[in-house]
Amino acid sequence: MDLGIAGRWALVCGASKGLGYGCASALAAEGVHLLINARGAVPLEQAARQLRAAGAQWASAAGQDDPKVVAIACDITTPEGREAVWAAGGGPGRDFDIVLTNAGGPPMGDFRGFTADDWQRAVNANMLTPIELIKAVLDGMAARGYGRILNITSSAVKAPIDILALSNGARSGLTGFIAGLARSEIAAHGVTVNNLLPGKFDTDRLNATFEGAAQKTGKPLQDIRRSQAAQIPARRFGTPAEFGALCAFLCSPQAGYINGQNLLLDGGLYPGTF
Ligand SMILES: NC(=O)c1ccc[n+]([C@@H]2O[C@H](COP(=O)([O-])OP(=O)(O)OC[C@H]3O[C@@H](n4cnc5c(N)ncnc54)[C@H](OP(=O)(O)O)[C@@H]3O)[C@@H](O)[C@H]2O)c1
Repeated sequence: MDLGIAGRWALVCGASKGLGYGCASALAAEGVHLLINARGAVPLEQAARQLRAAGAQWASAAGQDDPKVVAIACDITTPEGREAVWAAGGGPGRDFDIVLTNAGGPPMGDFRGFTADDWQRAVNANMLTPIELIKAVLDGMAARGYGRILNITSSAVKAPIDILALSNGARSGLTGFIAGLARSEIAAHGVTVNNLLPGKFDTDRLNATFEGAAQKTGKPLQDIRRSQAAQIPARRFGTPAEFGALCAFLCSPQAGYINGQNLLLDGGLYPGTF
């Protein structure tokens, strides 16, 4: 299916690896211009090189110019980081057609151990940062008649995970805000806003949680991976490429009637009917 998004500009946050990279990669394969971000400059530049190669492949098949890939190393959870994105040379300023909000998840642990500062950091990264990004681009999208905003949240929004209190709380706040925003007047101007809820995807973040469990329990890492995968009806973890494929579809005109949704990608792990 031709998604019809070639030549559009996407901001993909947290894109040097994992789910953000999976989304950037799927968009590059559709000829989308990318501004990607992460804090670590070296892995980000490496990701940019791979994305340029994917874009060049699309361009040679389509007989078009290569899509642009601009990489800005910054912390997206800070005002300075976001300003660096808007001011990036070669980028579109704030005139993005597609924005994927994403940053690292907050730390795990018993809520009794978290301080007010820990909560402020989690709310800033996983609720306020997406809202600030959206605020900067939304009216421009509506004025131009096309916009796709996607937020990576978590399956924890639907089925809270006890050791992820910070994530459960902060992301639920974002989810409530998005539910209202998606149904506001912007919906009549070609702008959709949706959340992507990953279950267990094979990324460094997931591996870090398994390594933590291995250290805590003394069990071998491979045993933990195996038993975690066995609990998923699909009997495996998701891949960033699968995640990216849904992201790219949701960015297309074909997905224009999908709005205000929380799309769970979890291999069937969530046990409810709805
Ligand atoms: N993987 C899963 O199974 C899963 C499940 C539920 C929820 N999630 C959530 O989905 C999101 C992505 O997870 P992932 O598995 O893709 O993680 P990952 O593999 O650790 O990748 C995170 C990416 O975000 C970047 N990043 C982190 N903090 C940032 C910041 N402040 N500013 C800019 N970039 C930042 C990282 O690069 P730098 O470190 O260099 O900045 C990296 O590129 C996280 O919020 C995670 O909690 C993941």
